[in-house]
Amino acid sequence: MFGIPLFPERASTIAAEVDALYFFLVGLSVVMSVLIATLVVTFAVKFRRRRVDEVGAQVHGGLMLEIGWTVIPFLITLVIFFWGAKVYFVMANAPAETLNIYVVGKQWMWKVQHTTGQREINELHVPVGRPVKLIMTSEDVIHDFSIPAMRVKADVIPGRFVQMWFEPTKPGTYRIFCAEYCGTDHSEMTGRVIVMEPNAYQAWLSGGAVEGSLASTGEKLFADFACNTCHRPDSRGRGPVLQNLFGRPVQLHDGTVVTADESYIRESILQPAAKVTAGFQPVMPAFQGLVSEEQLLALIEYVKSLSTPQQGSTN
Ligand code: CUA
Repeated sequence: MFGIPLFPERASTIAAEVDALYFFLVGLSVVMSVLIATLVVTFAVKFRRRRVDEVGAQVHGGLMLEIGWTVIPFLITLVIFFWGAKVYFVMANAPAETLNIYVVGKQWMWKVQHTTGQREINELHVPVGRPVKLIMTSEDVIHDFSIPAMRVKADVIPGRFVQMWFEPTKPGTYRIFCAEYCGTDHSEMTGRVIVMEPNAYQAWLSGGAVEGSLASTGEKLFADFACNTCHRPDSRGRGPVLQNLFGRPVQLHDGTVVTADESYIRESILQPAAKVTAGFQPVMPAFQGLVSEEQLLALIEYVKSLSTPQQGSTN
């Protein structure tokens, strides 16, 4: 319509489901609006005052009518609730096997870091037909990573990791938007998702100069920061063993149990005293301000690489 892209392409497995629910809601709104407007006009004409001295009669009763207009909307809203919940659960639960890619938002760009080492800015190359999980954080303020053609978007929040997944269904180039006002150049904070055939994607991965995988960069940092003097694989170090830590429960000092996910590892590097593992002294120095968001990703990916693959943590 007038060359304005009012409706984005459908390029992911979830797109048709999201659209079906969306059209249902729009259709329902249209039906209700027309019904109400028609009744307002009809009743206004039908029950209008015909004589100056005419007084309206009080009407009581109409039990079936009252039950009807209570129960029918209730059932309709339940349909919306369960349908919405079904779509939400599909979007919230990534499949076990995903291609994991890190995204860091900052004023005003998107930095993309692949586990194989490739970096991109405002571009995201992914293969078609494979679930992609984005593990996202922000360096400064709240941004929102939105890919309309994939029908996914999520707030990207400083200080924590947010996950979002989608499975592209057709090769092509699709827009990325920042969907949360984040300052002067918010509207310029856009990018492109490039969905490629698997062969072309492999060729893209092997092209360009890459200094090893993200995990190997993390391993170098791990040595540079001398983390390895305390975190030793033989459990005789002053810090907890990191082998087979990722994705598993950790018993803390105060008796609580947390899961060693990306956010936990990030926090344990920046503010180690926040969650001290049971049986250890809070002797680790805080790395807040000493490691960049990108270095954190590499360190997290290195810790991940020390664990045997399990559900939800595969690359
Ligand atoms: Cu980043 Cu709006």
